[in-house]
Amino acid sequence: KGISVIGVPMWLGQTRFGANLGPDAIRAAGLVTRLKGLAYRVSDEGNIAVGTKAPYKRQDKTLKNLQPIVAASEKVAAKVSRTVAAGRFPLILGGDHSIAIGTLAGISRHYANLGVIWYDAHGDLNTPETTPSGNIHGMPLAASMGLGHPALTGIGGYVGKVKAENLVMIGIRDLDPGERLLIAERKIRVYTADDVSRLGIAQVIAETVDYLSARCDGVHLSFDLDGIDPLEVPGVGTPVAGGISYSDSLAALALLHRSGIITSAELVEVNPLLDREDRTVSAALALAGALFGEVADSEGICQPAAA
Ligand code: ARG
Ligand code: MN
Ligand code: MN
Ligand code: MN
Repeated sequence: KGISVIGVPMWLGQTRFGANLGPDAIRAAGLVTRLKGLAYRVSDEGNIAVGTKAPYKRQDKTLKNLQPIVAASEKVAAKVSRTVAAGRFPLILGGDHSIAIGTLAGISRHYANLGVIWYDAHGDLNTPETTPSGNIHGMPLAASMGLGHPALTGIGGYVGKVKAENLVMIGIRDLDPGERLLIAERKIRVYTADDVSRLGIAQVIAETVDYLSARCDGVHLSFDLDGIDPLEVPGVGTPVAGGISYSDSLAALALLHRSGIITSAELVEVNPLLDREDRTVSAALALAGALFGEVADSEGICQPAAA
């Protein structure tokens, strides 16, 4: 199968410049060559043109940079939708997590029950009513569920991209009060970072795969690098102490590869300016490799990578 790499150099979903440099940094580190080495046909579709000026005022406490994010999200949705329609695997590079509003809008129209794995320290389930920051990167999952500002929930021309029962959240350890309420009300399946250390990553992924494959016709992986312990992966704008280890994260994506359930993916919140040693970019690259079959367990080593 073919992979289309789509960059979304967006940083306006939060307030630290640099998340916009993620896509090109990951490319410069050799992403396309690495995936081609796994025998995929890879096309780099370049970056979606997104605004880089932050128009928000200090008094904007509930929704910062709404207009440019809406404009970018429509472009992302259209591009990603065309990619899925063409039968290619969309691999989206962020950019902050607000880009997921556009990616989910583009993908979900092609599935009756799109599953979503949200790998993140955060819930990203805020609305303008519950946000502590006004940063839209804290809202993409709520918006995709139809909650929040109509300009965000209506991206792609329809409301309701993700159903609560088709969602699994992994790595969670920083939730705001409104997010906790929503998770409880909608009975969303959550594996906190503590759950992962208690159960083991293999168990968490096995349960996730069972749960989603029973009800979904496709699964999108939305991978926020801040799901991983920031001591190992420091180049993220909103680090939260603790988290899933880097090696468990690689194992998680290798297991997801072997499950065969993932139909689209995004890697977000890589901010190269916050990591002088470029460990975060290297991690993003290795995670992409694992997702496409590079990291093998003993069984995998004895079999050729799937084409
Ligand atoms: N919950 C906080 C907020 O709403 C942090 C969100 C961080 N999101 C992210 N994609 N890194 O502002
Ligand atoms: Mn996030
Ligand atoms: Mn996060
Ligand atoms: Mn918080």
